[in-house]
Amino acid sequence: MHHLHYATLKMLFILKIRFLLHGSAGPLTAQLGGAVLLPCFVDRPLPLEELEVDWRRTDSDTIVHLFQGGQSRPESQGDAYRDRAHFFSQEIPKGNFSLLLDGVRTADAGVYECVVYTEQEHHETRVEIQELERLVVTGADEPVYAHAGEDVTLSCSVDTHGNVTELQVKWIKTDDDSDILVLLYDERESRPQSQHDRYSGRAEFFTEEIPKGNFSMKLRKVRTEDIGEFRCEVHSNNDSASTTARIAALGESLEGLVLTCISIFLLSPRNGSMHVVTSGFKTGI
Ligand SMILES: *[C@@H]1O[C@H](CO)[C@@H](O)[C@H](O)[C@H]1NC(C)=O
Ligand SMILES: *[C@@H]1O[C@H](CO)[C@@H](O)[C@H](O)[C@H]1NC(C)=O
Ligand SMILES: *[C@@H]1O[C@H](CO)[C@@H](O)[C@H](O)[C@H]1NC(C)=O
Ligand SMILES: *[C@@H]1O[C@H](CO)[C@@H](O)[C@H](O)[C@H]1NC(C)=O
Ligand SMILES: *[C@@H]1O[C@H](CO)[C@@H](O)[C@H](O)[C@H]1NC(C)=O
Repeated sequence: MHHLHYATLKMLFILKIRFLLHGSAGPLTAQLGGAVLLPCFVDRPLPLEELEVDWRRTDSDTIVHLFQGGQSRPESQGDAYRDRAHFFSQEIPKGNFSLLLDGVRTADAGVYECVVYTEQEHHETRVEIQELERLVVTGADEPVYAHAGEDVTLSCSVDTHGNVTELQVKWIKTDDDSDILVLLYDERESRPQSQHDRYSGRAEFFTEEIPKGNFSMKLRKVRTEDIGEFRCEVHSNNDSASTTARIAALGESLEGLVLTCISIFLLSPRNGSMHVVTSGFKTGI
């Protein structure tokens, strides 16, 4: 009996006092505007009443989150983390004190410390948010050459670890006096009703490609007025990026195009001679 009692005590002693705290194996990468999991967990459940878990920024000592007296204490969170850092309440009794930080901002980069206190001892683990990833949007380096009446594809691909269907994507025709909305993807759908009349029924996404981050645009029956620059603009909650695409008329040199424009501009007040000059260029092209 005496021996058993001693063994039980010894076991309790071990259970209560010895716990191992685990964190992240390495620095973390987070997506601007996205969410990141900051790991901190022990190898066994700890009695909640005497437990305190203290998450802080090591540089500023700002409290990111606190668990104390058997519950989480959002009122003690620093302003920068209010409503953005959350425990997983069901996980805490299992000894999992990981934190989810959402709406990630540039200022969130840095070192975080999770300190777990019981009555007898405390342990800490650190995790660094090292890299904040921006949206990366790529297009094509070369212009797309087309004859009037042809269909073209303008490239725009998004590289992100976030959910691409949460993005807003705008294709805009840019080289006019004002930007013209060619095509819009918003709230998980293409929104043809918001596009400019000039592109109505002529521009569309490749819907099945969107989940892969491919927001390339198909433009049908190219017109002379389509020649020039388009911008593909991608917005997430907290970040945006863009790429440009060009449509160039097949067979026209840049010089010829510029000269034609200048000639029309200079000669347009003199209605009679304009006809002669532009038709001269046309035969040259
Ligand atoms: C802690 O909880 C989070 C959220 O449920 C989970 O993603 C993570 O894997 C858990 N960690 C451990 C060690 O169980
Ligand atoms: C992206 O979000 C949508 C809806 O919000 C969801 O249905 C889809 O499963 C998510 N995709 C991924 C890869 O998380
Ligand atoms: C995007 O989809 C279009 C149409 O299927 C395809 O031509 C293009 O190669 C795709 N772009 C990328 C980067 O996968
Ligand atoms: C990120 O977005 C959230 C809302 O989604 C906003 O409250 C926060 O101020 C933004 N942060 C930055 C740095 O833009
Ligand atoms: C140029 O000629 C067209 C008819 O060929 C006419 O409609 C237009 O008003 C003229 N413009 C000027 C500026 O004279």
